[in-house]
Amino acid sequence: MERQSEKQKKRTIAVLLCCIVMAAAGMTLYLFERQKESVPEYVFTYAENQTADYPTTLGALKFAELVEERSQGRIRILVQAEGVLGSEGDVIKQMRYGGIDFARVSLSQISEYVPEMNVLQLPYLYEDSGHMWRVLDGEIGERFLGYAGECDLVGLSWYDAGARNFYCSNRPVRTLQDMRGLRIRVQESEVMSEVIAALGAVPIQMPYDQVYEALERRHADGAENNWSSFEAMQHYEVARYFTVDEHARIPEMQICAEHTWEQLSEQDRQMILDCARESALYERELWSEHEKQAREKALHNQVQEIWLSPQEKEKFKAAIEPVYEKYREEYGDVIEEILSLSKS
Ligand code: GCU
Repeated sequence: MERQSEKQKKRTIAVLLCCIVMAAAGMTLYLFERQKESVPEYVFTYAENQTADYPTTLGALKFAELVEERSQGRIRILVQAEGVLGSEGDVIKQMRYGGIDFARVSLSQISEYVPEMNVLQLPYLYEDSGHMWRVLDGEIGERFLGYAGECDLVGLSWYDAGARNFYCSNRPVRTLQDMRGLRIRVQESEVMSEVIAALGAVPIQMPYDQVYEALERRHADGAENNWSSFEAMQHYEVARYFTVDEHARIPEMQICAEHTWEQLSEQDRQMILDCARESALYERELWSEHEKQAREKALHNQVQEIWLSPQEKEKFKAAIEPVYEKYREEYGDVIEEILSLSKS
């Protein structure tokens, strides 16, 4: 009887020990998995020159969130907004030489390396936003994303940037004649400088973050941008006359540095591409509401909105014809391809 209970005791101890060992093994495995989850395999930087609540920044944050979620924490993307990583031109240089992994930049900045890209930002090219999206979401847009490879970048997706308009600090622009002699800030872009000169004004190239001061100190009489940027950078405080002429639609491109792309597996690349495209749809959804609110805020702050008459718009178009002629010589086919996607 006694031998029997002795045996039972030993068995119970053995079972208990077994349980303890299994629980410890389970806990170790759990901790190991947790640690794996919290220490990402890749930590990438993402440059964005807009403010924290701007649609492109919110799009970037959505992108980072999707990538982290779908890679189960293996890939973390740190979005640095407000231009803290430098001007768009500097960001592209850093991406080419290994300092920054991802960014969202204006197409005009990539065009400086890939001249054919200029075609996509020619003024009065698209009849409206629908036309631009038919181009960018189709075969042409895909082809142009591929051209980013010519400057060691991978084009991921297209973000919206609405339509650009002129705004001035000292007087309104109502006619082509009013443009004469105005010093207008443009992006660091050759084609935009040519356009401004063709309109009889004087182009001044400078990075985005210097525009406010240039207007305030009267180093420039005006600038051109969309309502959202006009409001986000508080340009309305120093330029009260906003002429709605919608002369250009310059889309934004989400890009990855080629050397970063090369580190990733085929599967991760596809996942990142999917997340970029999803984040672009999200940004486009936010865009129109943001633009509307930006306009309201500017008008509420004593900005005068001037609509360019259709007759004057025709004069603006005729004035920039020589710029078109120049680009038609080399890129006539693609210009025709784009125009063929308009509805009119
Ligand atoms: C837009 C664009 C910016 C760009 C700016 C500019 O606001 O979103 O990325 O820097 O135009 O005019 O420079």
